[in-house]
Amino acid sequence: MKIIVAIDGFAASGKSTIAQDLAEKTGYTHIDSGAMYRAVTLFGMQKGLVTSALNIDSKKLIELLPTINISFDRIPCSYATILNGKNVEKEIRSLEVSNLTPHVAKIAEVRDFLTARLRDLGKDKGIVMEGRDIGTVVFPDAKMKVFVTAPLTLSVERRLEELKQQGNPATYQSVKNDILERDKIDAAWTYPAKDAIRIENGSKPLTDIVQNLLSMFYRIKN
Ligand code: DC
Repeated sequence: MKIIVAIDGFAASGKSTIAQDLAEKTGYTHIDSGAMYRAVTLFGMQKGLVTSALNIDSKKLIELLPTINISFDRIPCSYATILNGKNVEKEIRSLEVSNLTPHVAKIAEVRDFLTARLRDLGKDKGIVMEGRDIGTVVFPDAKMKVFVTAPLTLSVERRLEELKQQGNPATYQSVKNDILERDKIDAAWTYPAKDAIRIENGSKPLTDIVQNLLSMFYRIKN
């Protein structure tokens, strides 16, 4: 019997690493719902409908939602988000997209559109889906739910390292401000389900965290 594993948490909490590792060890498909919110934002930017946090043509964006096709290309050891046939993995990870996405994610129609897509992707179960509202809204009946938190300093350091690797060095203070700003907006839909397992990232080595989750996974599944 296959199950759905929902992994939710705030920006840079480390939920992606945990979700990827767990998916790899269970042989389940990893689905990054944040990538889909980012792809819709990028689509809006490309069409000139999302130019700043205060300048979003939500009416037009809502009209165009049915023309957006998002999928994932899974080549061994790598994962790419495809927006209307084009690999946009690098673009959706930019600071600009990161900062604009919470403002697009606020739009109820965008949330409904992506929730329907995510439910469709998970209809056969056997997935580890990460996001903010997977255990509460997208799959409230998921058999295993995890909510990941991390101390702010750790989140900032993780994000700084990611940006450095992408060739976008930033200052500690600017990344801290970005994370706090995004978390403030995302807080409206980012909270643990009542039956979620809480994980404090950084409290233990990552291998131990994943090992514990793996034991839980087999207990729940069997
Ligand atoms: O997990 P992430 O940082 O890649 O998410 C990008 C943005 O998308 C973030 O602002 C929260 C939003 N998001 C959301 O609202 N609901 C989800 N299920 C996943 C992401």
